[in-house]
Amino acid sequence: MAGGFSVSASSGTEFEAKITPIVIISCIMAATGGLMFGYDVGISGGVTSMDDFLREFFPTVLKKKHEDKESNYCKYDNQGLQLFTSSLYLAGLIATFFASYTTRRLGRRLTMLIAGVFFIVGVIFNGAAQNLPMLIIGRILLGCGVGFANQAVPLFLSEIAPTRIRGGLNILFQLNVTIGILFASLVNYGTAKIHPWGWRLSLSLAGIPAGLLTLGALFVVDTPNSLIERGKLEEGKAVLKRIRGTDNVEPEFNEIVEASRVAQAVKHPFRTLLQRRNRPQLVIAVLLQIFQQTTGINAIMFYAPVLFSTLGFKSDASLYSAVITGAVNVLSTLVSVYSVDRVGRRMLLLEAGVQMFLSQVAIAVVLGIKVTDRSDNLGHGWAILVVVMVCTFVSSFAWSWGPLGWLIPSETFPLETRSAGQSVTVCVNLLFTFVIAQAFLSMLCHLKYAIFAFFSAWVVIMSLFVLFFLPETKNVPIEEMTERVWKQHWFWKRFMDGDNHHIVYGAGKINGTNGAAV
Ligand code: BGC
Repeated sequence: MAGGFSVSASSGTEFEAKITPIVIISCIMAATGGLMFGYDVGISGGVTSMDDFLREFFPTVLKKKHEDKESNYCKYDNQGLQLFTSSLYLAGLIATFFASYTTRRLGRRLTMLIAGVFFIVGVIFNGAAQNLPMLIIGRILLGCGVGFANQAVPLFLSEIAPTRIRGGLNILFQLNVTIGILFASLVNYGTAKIHPWGWRLSLSLAGIPAGLLTLGALFVVDTPNSLIERGKLEEGKAVLKRIRGTDNVEPEFNEIVEASRVAQAVKHPFRTLLQRRNRPQLVIAVLLQIFQQTTGINAIMFYAPVLFSTLGFKSDASLYSAVITGAVNVLSTLVSVYSVDRVGRRMLLLEAGVQMFLSQVAIAVVLGIKVTDRSDNLGHGWAILVVVMVCTFVSSFAWSWGPLGWLIPSETFPLETRSAGQSVTVCVNLLFTFVIAQAFLSMLCHLKYAIFAFFSAWVVIMSLFVLFFLPETKNVPIEEMTERVWKQHWFWKRFMDGDNHHIVYGAGKINGTNGAAV
């Protein structure tokens, strides 16, 4: 094992694996998919708060924005404007169904290439947009890219990485999402000063991560798991040797072949997913996605500049504040990387529940007192307090529901349903992301400051769910979940009665999905 180190598969088998340059480069390339997603999340809010952009596409919103008779809370309430943001997630949702097919049949690499091409064409439409349809078509194409990338990239990462660093890589994808969001808000801060085409630059710069992902997909090798799954056994073995930096790959190779055989034997993964014994994982995965979005995080991520300008911040200050919250998001995600396997999932989620609740209630109270329909004279001190509270909220989200919403489903589904489970997870997430994107500005108009009380009520519900129904999965190998987690849990054990079906297949590494995050 000269120069390498051995990693322990979750079956207890020792596989020899070095962290080879090809693994590192592949991961960097693939992770640009996360950057791209984050950039799309973060760019729209800043752009929609720019007057030049509104003048071209949403003149009525621009008029409302500068009119005194309109309620502060309703300035941006416009279905078309919300569609600009939300169409991406709707398209992504639909694309996921095709993506789960292509990742299986064409491979992870080709699926990433398809994503890259969608992204590039979408960026061109957006950057060159002359009218609203062009703008929306561009967003839809970007959404297709997101659907394909978010299915293939996490799979690619978790399959190419040695087992020991797989968990960290899972959160790496989320970290890239947050870096993408931050990068987008920095770009908006700069381009808002370029008149009248700064917004075009904002939308066009998405070409950088899009181009990197496409180039990356051209140069990386496909994962051994994917090659083996498609019957290319010899090629799969050769790739495994290259990426592990050793000729001694027989044990891992055999295991992938076996896992592939077993996964292919499951004829109807979605039907299997609905069986009673798979209920706990399914319910938890679906609820975690819904809860992740009903924290209200994307109200902030999508619309922070719009929100801050609603509160009476000048345009510059709004964009500047979005940069601050973006930076807090990135830094706090690092806290999660460090602590998730130390303090555990439940602890992070419960602590965050308290922190999110308190900050949202504080925001609601300040806005309730200070921002009325007609006057937005939130004094300097109060304005700073609101930004601080938004940061407190974002930081707790970033070390809990952000990464864990993805990590927990990916580590609890058993092998036979993991692939189907991941598709359902991605779909439900994009569906609720769409709902928030489409509804937030209207909700802000109708509920006003109480919108934050609304989200805080959700935080109470989700924290109670965690308290009573979410078992701790820290340090539990995937194939021991049934015995050590579900059969021990006061509530979920009833679904395990008479369960002898959970076959233990050994390592948590399969040809389908594995430790995936989006
Ligand atoms: C969520 C995204 C959100 C991001 C914020 C992700 O985990 O899925 O919807 O925009 O975190 O950092």
